[in-house]
Amino acid sequence: MVTRADIGVIGGSGFYSLLDDAEEIELATPYGPPSDVVTVGRIGSRSVAFIPRHGRDHRFPPHRIPYRANLWALRSLGVRQVLAPSAVGSLRAEYGPGAIVIPDQLVDRTSGRVQTYYDIDGAVHVSFADPYCPAGRSTAARTARSGGWQTADSGTLVVIEGPRFSTRAESQWYASNGWSIVGMTGFPEAILARELALCYTSISLVTDHDAGVEAGEGVTHDEVLEFFAQNVTRMRTLVSETVQSLPDDRTCPCGTTLDGIKLPFELP
Ligand code: ADE
Repeated sequence: MVTRADIGVIGGSGFYSLLDDAEEIELATPYGPPSDVVTVGRIGSRSVAFIPRHGRDHRFPPHRIPYRANLWALRSLGVRQVLAPSAVGSLRAEYGPGAIVIPDQLVDRTSGRVQTYYDIDGAVHVSFADPYCPAGRSTAARTARSGGWQTADSGTLVVIEGPRFSTRAESQWYASNGWSIVGMTGFPEAILARELALCYTSISLVTDHDAGVEAGEGVTHDEVLEFFAQNVTRMRTLVSETVQSLPDDRTCPCGTTLDGIKLPFELP
């Protein structure tokens, strides 16, 4: 039997136990191997493929994650909807650690990351005005709110290059632009999903107030890891419930993004 999955989850290694009847698959892609073996299993009636974004042993820092291989691997298994849980810092006093933000916008402050599959002769210009799947976003926000999380169902995610955190001035500048949260992995993940016509939804867990909001020493690595670890069971439940509530049919525009565009190669 060929292993297939409808829904992909790219998240921390704390998400392994999400899946029932799990099977591990080693996949090769034209972009090298994904971050780790892909685990395919079930959540309720849905078939799900999981990739630990940083690798099982957390060997990939944000700027070295094989983003293209991860999304390609998911699509080659049949995945069309991707959920992307991740840790973020808050740029707003009103969202503290423990809030869930489902961003509707993104600002790319990364540099030097490969951000396209179409780095070849010929132009493929993909629409990205609204980087996230509207159906995935409303499902995730509804699920988070009914699970008792403080939930913001929109907001702008700034993605920084990392691996360092932001300076206080950078953080204050992001906040003064009206942006909501800051992370290191949301780009190019979101655009690569779009380039493969996948639905992509970020489920961002606030682990800290970023340096511009925080009066003290600023964010630390330990603070982020510890907070995420304390909340991983609740996050697993949130992701699992969101998976089960995602619509079966895609009525959003994500799947038709590439219609009418002549692609230089076939998608998997
Ligand atoms: N991930 C978690 N907290 C963060 C922060 N403050 N800045 C960037 N990435 C983060």
